[in-house]
Amino acid sequence: MSVVGSTGSIGTQTIDVINSDPASFHVVAIGAATSVDLLAAQALELRPDRVALADPRRATELEERLPAGTELLVGPEALAEIAKSADVVVNGVVGFAGLPVTLAALLAGRRLALANKESLIAGGPVVQVARATAGAEIVPVDSEHCAIHQCLRALLGEKDMARMPHPPSMPLRRIVLTASGGPFRGRSQRSLAEVTVQDALAHPTWTMGPKITIDSSTLMNKGLEVIEAHELFGIGYDSIEVVVHPQSIVHSMIETTDGATLAQLSLPDMRLPIGYALAYPDRLQVAFGAIDWTQLPPIEFEPPDRATFPCLDLAYRAGREGGAAPAWLNGANEVAVAAFLDGRIRWIDIPAVISAALDECSAPVPSTVDDVLESDRAGREFARVAVDRLARASL
Ligand SMILES: NC(=O)c1ccc[n+]([C@@H]2O[C@H](COP(=O)([O-])OP(=O)(O)OC[C@H]3O[C@@H](n4cnc5c(N)ncnc54)[C@H](OP(=O)(O)O)[C@@H]3O)[C@@H](O)[C@H]2O)c1
Repeated sequence: MSVVGSTGSIGTQTIDVINSDPASFHVVAIGAATSVDLLAAQALELRPDRVALADPRRATELEERLPAGTELLVGPEALAEIAKSADVVVNGVVGFAGLPVTLAALLAGRRLALANKESLIAGGPVVQVARATAGAEIVPVDSEHCAIHQCLRALLGEKDMARMPHPPSMPLRRIVLTASGGPFRGRSQRSLAEVTVQDALAHPTWTMGPKITIDSSTLMNKGLEVIEAHELFGIGYDSIEVVVHPQSIVHSMIETTDGATLAQLSLPDMRLPIGYALAYPDRLQVAFGAIDWTQLPPIEFEPPDRATFPCLDLAYRAGREGGAAPAWLNGANEVAVAAFLDGRIRWIDIPAVISAALDECSAPVPSTVDDVLESDRAGREFARVAVDRLARASL
């Protein structure tokens, strides 16, 4: 295994899974951006051959703390480098910065356990080309897509799963992604005008890194997941629906043409989907998400409030537009979320920033990595203009 983003929420839970069955898994590389203390501790515990550090500023300090014989790779290319040589590469980097890791793993013909949805959303057409490399495959780590993967696998079998995103004709009416609704479910738009960063970071069912937690509060995370589902499984946007399910027990479902629904249920514990991707096509022997049915509270479903959480429809719009729009959406969202976390804009300004950037998008389908980088850059630039305007207006 190569665990990229090993110091984050996904990365540390991946190491938990690996430690739960040390006879089955061997870590050959770990990597992160800046967290030198945790990387050094992980290297002492796991004894990987290689450690990668994207930010060079504390490289000397890290090198001194690594076990003898461990190779240190430093700089922006280091994380992609450690994605080339492992049977399974976990991409737990946050944001668009994960794109080189996704591409490197797929172009090297590896299995990619993909948590970093942003690389697939922004780089869709280019990632799909890399995914066609002999031996390459994506097994999703996002809990919803892991659930859909399990349901489709039950419907189609493993051989046809390997043909994604060009599956044979499937007897499928729709897939339904579940959303917890985040910390602001049931609130009116007016009551959300003054919410704080701390309010938005208080997710009711999942403990995750700050970026995805803010995305969950705006429902942009679900919007990004709609595009992710389209890219992963080749399913049209009209056949991807979202339903709010506050308990996060049903992780998503598929509905077949005869009206049957297949769903995957487990407790909200990311170690289950991580373990699924690591062990695929086998199954982990440790039951991280097992349910005690006698203790389960009632499970509920309701439609998403699209007026209060417009980010969901912004993502549908970008997905349907295609071309560079998903990359612009993703770049603009990263700028808006960072500006909210920095206290420059209000939570309710996030969709306005993204919408302003999307309105300017006219670029064609990205066909090279440079096209993707340019689309991301342009989306960010228009979003920064919108952030500056909103920040000035609030002075
Ligand atoms: N957390 C979850 O439960 C969950 C669930 C589903 C999907 N995901 C997806 O998984 C990904 C990771 O999320 P997370 O919650 O684990 O994030 P996180 O806790 O913030 O961790 C992010 C990881 O990425 C590294 N990183 C940050 N900026 C980087 C950069 N510019 N270049 C390279 N590496 C960088 C961090 O290294 P440092 O520590 O050194 O900064 C850290 O290892 C996201 O795409 C998210 O949407 C997460």
